[in-house]
Amino acid sequence: MNVLLTGATGYIGRRLQEKLLSDKSVRLRLFVRNARKVQAGLEDHIELFEGNALDEGSVRKGLVGIDVAYYLIHSMGAGADYEKLDRLSAQNFLDACIDNKVKRIIYLGGLGKKDTASKHLRSRLETGEILSSRPDLIQSVWLRAGVIIGSGSASFEIIRHLVQKLPVMTTPKWVRTQTQPVGVGDVLEYLFQAKDVPIEGSIAVDIGAEKMSFKDMLLRAARVMGLKRTIIPIPFLSPRLSSFWLKLMTPVPFPIAKALIQGLRSETTVQNDNARRYFPRINPLSYEDSFRTAIDEIEGNQVISRWCDSSAQKTCDIEGQDRLESAVYREKASFDFGALPAEAVFSVVESIGGDNGWFTYDWLWRMRGFIDILFAGPGLSRGRRDPNKLRIGDSLDFWKVVDLKPDKRLLLVNQMKVPGKAWLEFSIEGSRLIVAAHYYPKGLWGRLYWYLTKPLHMLIFPDMTRGIIKKAKF
Ligand SMILES: NC(=O)c1ccc[n+]([C@@H]2O[C@H](COP(=O)([O-])OP(=O)(O)OC[C@H]3O[C@@H](n4cnc5c(N)ncnc54)[C@H](OP(=O)(O)O)[C@@H]3O)[C@@H](O)[C@H]2O)c1
Repeated sequence: MNVLLTGATGYIGRRLQEKLLSDKSVRLRLFVRNARKVQAGLEDHIELFEGNALDEGSVRKGLVGIDVAYYLIHSMGAGADYEKLDRLSAQNFLDACIDNKVKRIIYLGGLGKKDTASKHLRSRLETGEILSSRPDLIQSVWLRAGVIIGSGSASFEIIRHLVQKLPVMTTPKWVRTQTQPVGVGDVLEYLFQAKDVPIEGSIAVDIGAEKMSFKDMLLRAARVMGLKRTIIPIPFLSPRLSSFWLKLMTPVPFPIAKALIQGLRSETTVQNDNARRYFPRINPLSYEDSFRTAIDEIEGNQVISRWCDSSAQKTCDIEGQDRLESAVYREKASFDFGALPAEAVFSVVESIGGDNGWFTYDWLWRMRGFIDILFAGPGLSRGRRDPNKLRIGDSLDFWKVVDLKPDKRLLLVNQMKVPGKAWLEFSIEGSRLIVAAHYYPKGLWGRLYWYLTKPLHMLIFPDMTRGIIKKAKF
């Protein structure tokens, strides 16, 4: 099956691309505006086509020989006129698909009714109407989703940031509007299966898990994160004011925050049962499970598998492009060890902690360990299993080894009592030794803890880096 994926540099497209590549019967072509934005390391497996959906000629060329075409484009970032651009782009795509005898278009748009829709949602609905307007000539699967819960999705990031930062939230009254969120994993599964599902003509498939209000989404997310939150809806918060508020409190760009807030005013719930009819094997995850998965993904992508292997820089690329940068706080120090062999430096790194000490400010480490014991944590009492070697899973003072790549990387996860989750990473890149703390804070206390300990990190890390290199020299 020859598949064209548009929007491959976007939130959904980037994830779908990986899923499609897992299907050996798929030959994938990516339609992108800027080939350099596509993840390094993937070019060998897939075909890249540089084009623009607003340029009819390039769309026609990009679709030659294609059986199934995914349309995951929107023009919201292009200014106030985006509705017009969305219409033009969708019409170009439909015409070019028909001319190239493409068998099926798959589109993911928004959920809701046109008469009550916001400007953004109206445009998403119009796009769907255009793409599915010729069932006599081309099949179409028009998937419609409301709030998507997944790490990096704008709605998820808004919920996560608001809940994390605000113990008491005053919210617009339309937080009571009903919506039907769905996990990003389920959305990808619908998109993936949509290329094979037997249909005739055009179908619209509304997808969503449980129905709930935005207020419930905030409160249930708080429970998943182990936080207690109070919500007070007040009548005079305008959408504009609320969007500025979101801009202030979350990393989501203003136009997206504004569109989402406007979208909250009308109900976005499932209007047909085609999901069950055409995709009976998909059983969407509960809201809580989707939220938990998204949080785990933040830790997984940003810390645990953050290391960029030379084979595929995938993880690092994703980090740079997502709206996740602020999810994990970081502090780091690095030092050039010149002509010293990396193995010599790493063997000192591997011997850190326990009776060998931390190569700087040992009294501060001991003090921190003592404070931890007062809070019923392990402190420094556990030491090390072996004085020189480490294994994944080893305890190391108040840390545990979660990743060990010889001569490259040691990642420790914190087991002290702290309001959040913390990691300490030692890595070697070229002739530099890098020591970095990563911290995923829990609520306001978590943030306060980070800023209070930041001066200590700034004091300790450069010295520790130099201490390791000094020891490696002797
Ligand atoms: N994310 C959600 O929470 C969510 C929820 C419900 C529905 N959806 C729907 O899912 C679809 C994809 O959304 P998304 O969140 O993945 O969007 P996104 O992250 O903003 O990505 C949009 C993509 O469209 C591409 N694009 C824009 N204009 C283009 C043009 N003229 N020619 C070619 N490519 C163009 C962008 O390419 P560049 O990188 O070059 O800008 C980008 O890859 C949309 O239809 C959206 O309505 C998303």
